[in-house]
Amino acid sequence: MDSVPASATPFDGLTEFEQAVGRAHAAAKAYFGGETLTMPDGDYDHLIARITASMEVNPQWDDRGVSTAVAAGASGGAVRHETPMLSLDKITTAAELEQFTNTLSTCTAVVEAKFDGMACHVDYRDGRLVRAVSRGDGAAGDDITHQVTREPGVAGLPVSLPNAWSGSVRGEIFMTNADFEAANDARVAAGKAPFVNPRNAVAGSIRKVERTYSVPMSFAAYAISGDGLEDVDSHLERMAHTRLSGITTATMLTAGALPAGTLTYGRRAEDLQRAVDALEKLRPRLGFPVDGAVIKADSRVVRTRMGSHSSAPRWAVAYKWAPDTAYSILREIHVSVGRTGRAGFRAVIDPVTVAGTTIRYASLHNVDWIAQQGLGVGSRVAVVRAGDVIPRVTAAAGEQPEDVVPWIPPAGCPQCDQPWERSGQLWRCTTPACSLVSLLTYAASRDVLDIDGLGEEVAAALVEADLVRDLADLYTLTSDRIAEASYVRPGTTVGRRIGRTTAAKLVAGIAAAKERPLARHITSLGIRGTGRRMGPTLAQHFGTLDALRAATTDDLAAVNGIGTVTACWISAGLHEADEVIDRLIAVGIATVHDTTPAVADGSLAGKRVVITGAIPNMTRTQAQEAAERLGATASGSVTPKTDLLIVGAGSSARSKLAKANELGVPTMSAEDFLALHAAAVTS
Ligand code: IVH
Repeated sequence: MDSVPASATPFDGLTEFEQAVGRAHAAAKAYFGGETLTMPDGDYDHLIARITASMEVNPQWDDRGVSTAVAAGASGGAVRHETPMLSLDKITTAAELEQFTNTLSTCTAVVEAKFDGMACHVDYRDGRLVRAVSRGDGAAGDDITHQVTREPGVAGLPVSLPNAWSGSVRGEIFMTNADFEAANDARVAAGKAPFVNPRNAVAGSIRKVERTYSVPMSFAAYAISGDGLEDVDSHLERMAHTRLSGITTATMLTAGALPAGTLTYGRRAEDLQRAVDALEKLRPRLGFPVDGAVIKADSRVVRTRMGSHSSAPRWAVAYKWAPDTAYSILREIHVSVGRTGRAGFRAVIDPVTVAGTTIRYASLHNVDWIAQQGLGVGSRVAVVRAGDVIPRVTAAAGEQPEDVVPWIPPAGCPQCDQPWERSGQLWRCTTPACSLVSLLTYAASRDVLDIDGLGEEVAAALVEADLVRDLADLYTLTSDRIAEASYVRPGTTVGRRIGRTTAAKLVAGIAAAKERPLARHITSLGIRGTGRRMGPTLAQHFGTLDALRAATTDDLAAVNGIGTVTACWISAGLHEADEVIDRLIAVGIATVHDTTPAVADGSLAGKRVVITGAIPNMTRTQAQEAAERLGATASGSVTPKTDLLIVGAGSSARSKLAKANELGVPTMSAEDFLALHAAAVTS
């Protein structure tokens, strides 16, 4: 936390003042405490500013130390800092930066990222890390040696150095955005509340002396003293020395993030401002949480001459940016199905500005987590824009209104109403029309286009690699492009490329799919009401894809087995798929229903047949197509008009067989049917 210029309105009365001090104290404790947040940073800063202003008017009032930034924040720990760990004065404008550079006169200043984590002091003796102490209240902190040295350690803060160096390092322990996301995913999976933001994640993890899971953390040094540095005046040179010991420095992380040639040091305010601006522009892509830039005098001699005031040095300032965490009220939760079929949950919040952008929507972890947090309309939530473009609701924050009714997720997909397919935290809709992956998987299935190798994983890889945006794109794939796409094996996080062999097989399968009968292409569109049974009926009735597209709802409703409602679904679906169908025609799929029997004599010519039970080695669709090749028309139910019932194995054949016997419809065994088909197609 930074000391704040006392420009705010003082409190009028002592009671109001004391209440404010109490609130600030509690908030500061929570701030360093880790998992819960009681007050937004901006509100806290404002509160402290008012307390400070009140103290100037009424110096006899007791602020319990909260207004002096050194004492603000956490309570002190058991270990005294030999030199207090100060805070930084805060600026937010170019004019203030210029004012600051004027006080430096001719000394060069250095710009570093201001890491948003937890400050600590680390002692090395003869090349070994012997003690780490948290900043605490600046005067005294806690011994955190165990927490920073146990596996997996803190990246950039080695336990042993390559040389026998003795001295001290100060810096920030922080969590990268990727580590933060991963740690929160792990916590949510373990049924724990996620951390609100990376800073809280670090504080919370360090505070736990023992923990059962590992939280990856990193270090950025910003000050060093010890062997060999007694006469080194320049901060940059001292940092270079630090880096040689294998300790990561704020200087190197800052310079590494900025484009080559961006100077992070200089004398002129405008040059420094340019570095600050470049850093801010890169903020979403830095990969680590930064809440501003620190501008500091490079020379130690100059620093000593300038000295400090009670809580902060005069030789450095923190140029703060808008916080990346904001607080808002949850108004609604939107449920949607993405291109991969996964249910997504999006919070609609009261508009709030986060890191300079007004946001109205933010993603939510998953359903279990929403329930765990007890979120509902009216919940106060923390929203973080942590590097990524999509802001995320990270927690229910602060005091919650009493009348929040926990949100109940819909039982099914909002588009098709079908119940979710639930596996753990992921909810999916597998209706073909609701997501592209489901559609592709459905279109490729054995009874539809029968494309070998195009299962769900591969379909998801093609969609995620943006190689396929609709069904027609499938036919434009080349094996080179497919081979590069990768997918994640279920239950793992390991990505695998599709590879050459599978890609070649897939391309051959797709080419063969073009030649499938029209009925299957109709079904492959995934339109509601055109399933495996209805595809053949539609193909037969309309004869061509063009005739089907030209059909009115009435035309469709006139087809045997299609009611008015189904006719509307089909009509709407065809209309929606208009452009895709044009492209399917352009790539050369079969568009005409083939009525010529494959065999000259048409051994089942003109017969209306019904197939029941299991036909060995054939799906129902394939068996129907086989019957059609023999000149028959296949239908679904036994009526007085039925000429022949083909009976396969299994109890499912029983009722149709009974009906056929009742009506005197002749029957044929599956074996005889297969023999007839084999003889006909090979002759
Ligand atoms: S220089 C006298 N450099 O910001 C303190 N501080 O608000 C000199 N911080 O407690 C600190 N990144 O924990 C410095 N590159 C950086 C920093 C940095 C983060 C923290 C530090 C300090 C707080 C002050």
